[in-house]
Amino acid sequence: MTLEEIKKIDSKNYMNTFGARTGVAFESGKGLELYATDGRVFKDFLGGIAVNALGHNHPILTNALHNQVDKVLHTSNLYYIENQARLAEKLVENTCADRAFFCSTGAEANEGAIKLAKIYHYKKGNKKYGVVSLDKSFHGRTIATVAATGQEKYQKPYRPLPEGFKQVPANDIEALKAAADENTAAILLEPIQGESGVRPLDKAYLKAVREYCDENDIVLIFDEVQTGMGRTGKLFAYMDTGVEPDIFTSAKALGGGVPIGAVCAKQKFADAFEPGDHGTTFGGNPLACAAGLAVFEAFEKENLVEKAGEMGEYFKDKLNKLKEQNKNIKEVRGKGLLIGIEIEEGIAKDVFNCLFDMGYLTSLCGGTTIRVAPPYIIKKDDIDGFVDALDKALERK
Ligand SMILES: Cc1ncc(COP(=O)(O)O)c(C=O)c1O
Repeated sequence: MTLEEIKKIDSKNYMNTFGARTGVAFESGKGLELYATDGRVFKDFLGGIAVNALGHNHPILTNALHNQVDKVLHTSNLYYIENQARLAEKLVENTCADRAFFCSTGAEANEGAIKLAKIYHYKKGNKKYGVVSLDKSFHGRTIATVAATGQEKYQKPYRPLPEGFKQVPANDIEALKAAADENTAAILLEPIQGESGVRPLDKAYLKAVREYCDENDIVLIFDEVQTGMGRTGKLFAYMDTGVEPDIFTSAKALGGGVPIGAVCAKQKFADAFEPGDHGTTFGGNPLACAAGLAVFEAFEKENLVEKAGEMGEYFKDKLNKLKEQNKNIKEVRGKGLLIGIEIEEGIAKDVFNCLFDMGYLTSLCGGTTIRVAPPYIIKKDDIDGFVDALDKALERK
């Protein structure tokens, strides 16, 4: 099908939640490259919004999926599932969590984490139900995660929202203490706020939040849907903060492109979920967990998490050098291969479009930030090519 044919069918039949999309449809990919239906070739610096950690068509992932497809796709959580047990073991062995639970998306993982925090207090006999999260956060599109997302545009059409959700400015411990009260069950935050422009939280702030949670029996939840699974050069971003969450969530890169999410928790919190308290039909099915296991296998065989850290440092260094020469780059933020490039207001959209015309996929978030979240297989040459293209895009504006 041509792009025009696809657009025609889409505009007639698909709900218009994504508006006028970027004008391209992809039919295949290899490594960092995506191939469009009209023959154009793109370098994928967005990785399906921080999903395709292994790039496209990685043999370890595709072979694992082919093998699993030939065996069985789905059986249900009424039965034991080998891949599910093994993937949970991987997460438990490699993180501060003692238990994992699988679902299918990031929002559903956060929804599960919020439920777990609430039921933890319920079973202790505490009357705690509230969740404090941060301004400019993004936690998903379900009703509870919209209520936790500190952005008016996502909340407004859906009011009244579930009660007990409050947002406070990031990196302001006094504001958080003022908002929290005896009803606060959990504090939910992204160690690096992704969707609103790649904004890392201060380590001192995270430490203060941890202490406050400990002193007040509040569950600390990290939303690592975007920052997790190697993205920042550590398996999870909390590992570089000196702070351990009680519960953290994962999704995006966990399946390398196959939908899967996870709620990971320390034992005393995980214990609050007893049979019947939570569930899912699709979550943790044999196919999705085969993908998760393959992602771990590729990380181990190809040292990809360390590489994400190294390539991220190289990338940020080059971007900062470009910033020294070009006043239209305001700031370079982020960690590992989650980088936000803040562009002078008024030209950010044009720079983003220009990069697209030159064959580079990125996203524009928070209005003025070009976000890159490329696969961890990226090479220095690819980064050099991108930085040259950005230089040219800034010149043209
Ligand atoms: C930090 C964070 N949490 C949650 C979500 C929601 O994930 P999903 O779109 O898979 O529901 C996202 C998606 O962008 C995210 O970045």
